[in-house]
Amino acid sequence: MNHNKTPLWTALQSYAKDEITPFHTPGHKLKPGAFISLEEVLGKAFFALDPSDEISSVEFNNDFETALKQAEGLAANLFGAQDSLFLVNGTTGGLHYLLMPTTGYVIIPRFSHQAVYSGLMLSEGREIYLPTSYDLEWAIPLPPSIEQIEESLKGKAKQAIVLTHPTYYGTVPDLEKICNLAHKNGTMVFADEAHGGHFAFSKRLPQTALECGADAVVQSTHKTLGSFTQTSMLHSSNSEWFSKIVQAKSVLQTTSPSLVFLGVLDEVRRVLASKGVDLMERAIELADCCATQLSQIKGVEVLPKNLQSDPTKVVFSLRELGITGIELEFLLRKDYNIQLELSDYYSVLALITLGDTEESITRLVWAIRDLVQRISYENCRPLPKFKLNIPDLPPNILGLKNAFYTDKEIIPLQKAKGRISGSFLTPYPPGVPVIVPGEEFTSDIIEYLLWCSHINWTVRGLMEGKSVSVLKENNAFSRNLR
Ligand SMILES: Cc1ncc(COP(=O)(O)O)c(C=O)c1O
Repeated sequence: MNHNKTPLWTALQSYAKDEITPFHTPGHKLKPGAFISLEEVLGKAFFALDPSDEISSVEFNNDFETALKQAEGLAANLFGAQDSLFLVNGTTGGLHYLLMPTTGYVIIPRFSHQAVYSGLMLSEGREIYLPTSYDLEWAIPLPPSIEQIEESLKGKAKQAIVLTHPTYYGTVPDLEKICNLAHKNGTMVFADEAHGGHFAFSKRLPQTALECGADAVVQSTHKTLGSFTQTSMLHSSNSEWFSKIVQAKSVLQTTSPSLVFLGVLDEVRRVLASKGVDLMERAIELADCCATQLSQIKGVEVLPKNLQSDPTKVVFSLRELGITGIELEFLLRKDYNIQLELSDYYSVLALITLGDTEESITRLVWAIRDLVQRISYENCRPLPKFKLNIPDLPPNILGLKNAFYTDKEIIPLQKAKGRISGSFLTPYPPGVPVIVPGEEFTSDIIEYLLWCSHINWTVRGLMEGKSVSVLKENNAFSRNLR
């Protein structure tokens, strides 16, 4: 395939060059007009490249629909898929299209992104949760083990497994083995590869989910590969399921996707096809250099390699100096004008991509050295251990979808024992829900959440006055479904 071509990006530019008098949407009519500040910041070109896709025309050489299909075909070829789709609602949208057609049991790790849960809410599928195990030293969630997957596949037929590949921290499950195991059981494997779009461009990174045998994957091209925010790609190697995905997309996606965003995905693909390997090699070298230099600073710990298969995610901690990751993120922003990707109790994550330079790495390392020097060793004590005594998964009474459609009321958490949750309650970080809609509040869960709140650990979903959303009792709909 000729990867120098950019069918969509070229078609868009050609429409802009024609300087047509537009009596069509969008309302800005392809020029800034009264929007002076937008022109100053974005320039004229951004407007000219933003026609709606409804004016697609074969006769006049701006057949955006065909151009998009060709662009997606080139992406499929580059990423080793049978079919690909360009997405304008991020990996969130892609996971929704992937999961909406499910009708059977779907296995998901409990720490899955909320888009996996909401995808299942849109479907006829029924979720089966894999409890989360943690690395206790770093308090980070780990991908499910082969044994966990083996166990979950026993019994009733399972339609699919959805795995996060990699986790936010760069840890990957043994996906090749999992795919073999699942396929033997007639179960599809879908990968949430939101943070792994760059894997295709280096042998020093984990294999891609498609290489491991996944049926379909969704990647946030915007997160690790440089396209505009909200643009993602879905790649599939399962043509039967792909036709269902396309159907779901036609139901859920806007009928006016941004052609600029889709065109940018096309151009990003062209650049990656010719330079992706070199760009990624450089990013990995920068990340290695960053991790090495950080680990040489007294008081700084870097996440060990056995926990981190993706070197571009540099996770480090100043816990020996008594500084939480959350404090570190704040100090770097306040005193050094540096913003990190993520922080938790122990650690922070600096994401290194093809957009980084030696200067950005030098700045970060310099800032950490400076910060460590400012801290007086005599006065600092290591951080106390983080208690991760998370209770067992509570009884599951109703599926996510049925819980979503059932009327709710707000009550004090203390009075919730035996009631069915109407929302997710998620201590953050690490962002693993303790209870999800449709599950029953147990004494353990209530005590744990009260403790989290007592120590000021943010619990997403816990409302003012420590109240929670529960399903209304005497709700005919929910009773029928029990
Ligand atoms: C693991 C994971 N999956 C999916 C998503 C959703 O991706 P997007 O922002 O592209 O919709 C995210 C976003 O942070 C994520 O972390």
